[in-house]
Amino acid sequence: MKLIRARDYGEMSRRAANLIFAQVTLKPDSVLGLATGSTPIGIYDCLADWFAGGDLDFGEVTTINLDEYCGLAPTHPQSYRYFMQTHLFGRVNINPARTNVPLGMAEPEAESTRYDALIAGCGGIDMQLLGIGHNGHIGFNEPGSSFERGTHCVELSQSTLEANARFFKEGEEMPRAAITMGMGAIMQAGKILLVASGKEKAGILDKALNGPVTPEIPASLLQLHPNLIIVTGDM
Ligand code: GLP
Repeated sequence: MKLIRARDYGEMSRRAANLIFAQVTLKPDSVLGLATGSTPIGIYDCLADWFAGGDLDFGEVTTINLDEYCGLAPTHPQSYRYFMQTHLFGRVNINPARTNVPLGMAEPEAESTRYDALIAGCGGIDMQLLGIGHNGHIGFNEPGSSFERGTHCVELSQSTLEANARFFKEGEEMPRAAITMGMGAIMQAGKILLVASGKEKAGILDKALNGPVTPEIPASLLQLHPNLIIVTGDM
């Protein structure tokens, strides 16, 4: 486990983006596992800037996103497909056919099977970017009684619903379920890059990295990954 402590959000974003830059430079056909949430936005800004400056090429990259809200179409502004289009895919030369986000409108069980086959078909993930939820969730792997291995549908916990409600307009119905990659595919990634920013994440990050490995804190399983890099900012 390698822990990089950046001073603030901007430095955290640049440091983490540099690691993705190195990954894509050394292996142009990398399979990148990508995440949403507010934390990675600065990373995507850096990558888009470096692409615009001619220093980075996404032409051969494949991306596999962690999760999507059930019931949201790709065109819905709060869907994670829309998020990725806005923050990264629409700003770089990635081949749209090589970008993958679970389909929120699909039948969840069939979509889970399709997504696991897709990950396997890509030969697995070279580098997986992760944020962490306030309750220690990863993707939408919520606290529970076991670690779910494969892609699956989850009921969102109260804490996640409250944390993510800020992205939805007042009065707008927020999805209560999501489809997420399981801990199995995440743990099989060659490298994991976990980013967390802000003092309110310090407690859960400490529990995840230094406490017991338990499904009650899904991120705690990352302790067992042989190539885990954590970049924090403002902690
Ligand atoms: C969502 C996403 C997670 C993300 C988490 C934290 O629930 N499914 O992948 O890590 O939010 O988000 P934020 O970075 O906004 O705190």
